[in-house]
Amino acid sequence: MSDAKFTPRVFSGIQPSGDLHLGNYLGALKRFADAQNQGILSIYCMVDLHAITVWQDPAALTRNTRELCAGFIASGIDPEKSILFNQSQVPEHAQLAWVFNCVARMGWMGRMTQWKDKSGKNAEAASLGLLAYPALMAADILVYHATHVPVGEDQKQHLELTRDIAAKFNHDYGVEFFPMTEPVIEGAATRVMNLQDGTKKMSKSDPSDKTRINLTDDADAIARKIKKAKTDPDPLPETADGLENRPEARNLVNIWAALAETTVDDVVAQNAGKMFGYFKQDLADLAVEKLAPISGEMARLMQDQAEIDRILGRGAERAREIAAPILAQTYDIVGMVRS
Ligand code: TYM
Repeated sequence: MSDAKFTPRVFSGIQPSGDLHLGNYLGALKRFADAQNQGILSIYCMVDLHAITVWQDPAALTRNTRELCAGFIASGIDPEKSILFNQSQVPEHAQLAWVFNCVARMGWMGRMTQWKDKSGKNAEAASLGLLAYPALMAADILVYHATHVPVGEDQKQHLELTRDIAAKFNHDYGVEFFPMTEPVIEGAATRVMNLQDGTKKMSKSDPSDKTRINLTDDADAIARKIKKAKTDPDPLPETADGLENRPEARNLVNIWAALAETTVDDVVAQNAGKMFGYFKQDLADLAVEKLAPISGEMARLMQDQAEIDRILGRGAERAREIAAPILAQTYDIVGMVRS
């Protein structure tokens, strides 16, 4: 349980490092609107400082940040209700991250799966930022004293580290200042898989565009990619247990359940015995119905970039009103002189 003395507050972030895909939508974005609509203060961030831990072309980063903002709004985030901004406009994130760099231990960072995957065989050539990345992520969350963080499954380890950092800070300084954040990893699609290989996660970095559905894809592209998704030769099973060891089949059923806001058991019951050719046809129709309006709305919003920049600037001002006092208190706890 998160600590009772902290007001419930939601934070989450997405990297503006390429096209948003179906995994980002079902694992994160779609669920962000739920938190906002429950009336909990929700803070959503385009984490541009995280993105540059690997090389980003500057013009592409600018465009991707604006497009991501359009993606948030098209997915139901209301910039009046929620706080929506890009990370670099709120310097308190990087400032608190420095303090956390001095709290987190090298051993903790080296054990992060994402660091191991992304630094690969040549860790010597990876940026220092890539290793320190989870400390910045902890700062993103804790600079707002956020209590709940909706994310996909792949971020779980980073959120455990966030709790470790908060606990060590509180312990070292003898305070109860940072909350123990709760990861919120819920729903049928917390780990959407690659459409061509059900053992790999759907990701923006896969070189093949056929492996993912982008939120910018039009109706034809969405339908084509689903119809060409890899499956096995067997029909759909009678019960959800029958999806075991059938990663591609399981993935398509999960996607259906998440898009239709129902359960895996329901989808299996509705489609038991159906061949995948027919199932994919119906899934394509469902996906087009749910996703095509989002890409249309994103394209519309992208026509007014000045408005997007205004929204991000206003969001950053509101974010700083919360973050600045928390950073100031952190500095006081640490013993920094404030004149
Ligand atoms: P990022 O930008 O890689 O992904 C954004 C969100 O999408 C989820 N996600 C998925 N969910 C299901 N299936 C998938 N295949 C899939 N791929 C991505 C991610 O879990 C995430 O929720 N480190 C974070 C960004 C971040 C952040 C934060 C998140 C920075 N600071 C503070 C929460 C709180 C990241 O790289 O997400």
